[in-house]
Amino acid sequence: MDFNMEFVVYTALTVLVWILSFTWLLPFLTILKFSKTCRNKWFSWFFVKVCAPPKGPVLMKMRKQAFNRLKDHLEDRKKNTPLEILEIGIGGGANLQFYPENSNLTAVDMNPSFMTYFEEMRQKHPQINLKRAVITMAEDMHEIEDDSFDVVICTYTLCSVKSVRSALNEIKRVLKPGGKFLYLEHILYNSSSWNSWLQKFATPLWEIYCNGCILTRKTDEEIRKTGFKDVVIDKHHPKDMWLVVRSQIVGIATK
Ligand SMILES: C[S@@+](CC[C@H](N)C(=O)[O-])C[C@H]1O[C@@H](n2cnc3c(N)ncnc32)[C@H](O)[C@@H]1O
Repeated sequence: MDFNMEFVVYTALTVLVWILSFTWLLPFLTILKFSKTCRNKWFSWFFVKVCAPPKGPVLMKMRKQAFNRLKDHLEDRKKNTPLEILEIGIGGGANLQFYPENSNLTAVDMNPSFMTYFEEMRQKHPQINLKRAVITMAEDMHEIEDDSFDVVICTYTLCSVKSVRSALNEIKRVLKPGGKFLYLEHILYNSSSWNSWLQKFATPLWEIYCNGCILTRKTDEEIRKTGFKDVVIDKHHPKDMWLVVRSQIVGIATK
């Protein structure tokens, strides 16, 4: 039963945000809705400086869990051959600390405003060799050749792409045969739950304030439909995460 005090508090806060968005915050909401540049600048700052820091420990735990799966799959790897990694939606580079040694990184993001934060993070991890940073959409990575990566990483990104299906098809295209797709995403709660109702209620505003992020995606189902082998998807509800993004999946699949 998820109709509890926490649910009531989150619902009340969401109602408040709806009211503020159509009164005091209306000018801001209108700018975000119609200006992609403002949305990009706002969200990169908001995500890196406001959202992520208070959830640092739980985000760190989730990221670590995801990368441990990758470690298990790379046990037989020859360490002197660089691992070709593509990270899609690199954002501020929060995953760099977990990269395996001797990694060559190609970074993709559709939002150029994240690049300053990514650069700052990269300075802290000079051992990672950045081969390329490409500003493009995950749904159409035509700059990137077929069968070219050992690993593709997506964390909290498939919630925001315009088409999950196209992004997943592109991920499969650019992975080498046998390559690994590592994912960590928030998804829709069980469709009959109160929490899923809250996600649906919050999404129209959340999508504008969070630059396209949709709370109601069934990304787990989409991953299963893409035709990867050995698909592992574990569901988690890390209790320290905000309720609307607490329903999460972590896993790995093979091309
Ligand atoms: C919530 S942030 C997560 C950033 C980072 N992956 C992390 O785990 O901290 C979502 C990221 O995905 C990027 N993104 C959203 N839609 C995208 C798309 N269609 N193609 C490429 N990147 C996209 C955003 O610009 C942003 O950097």
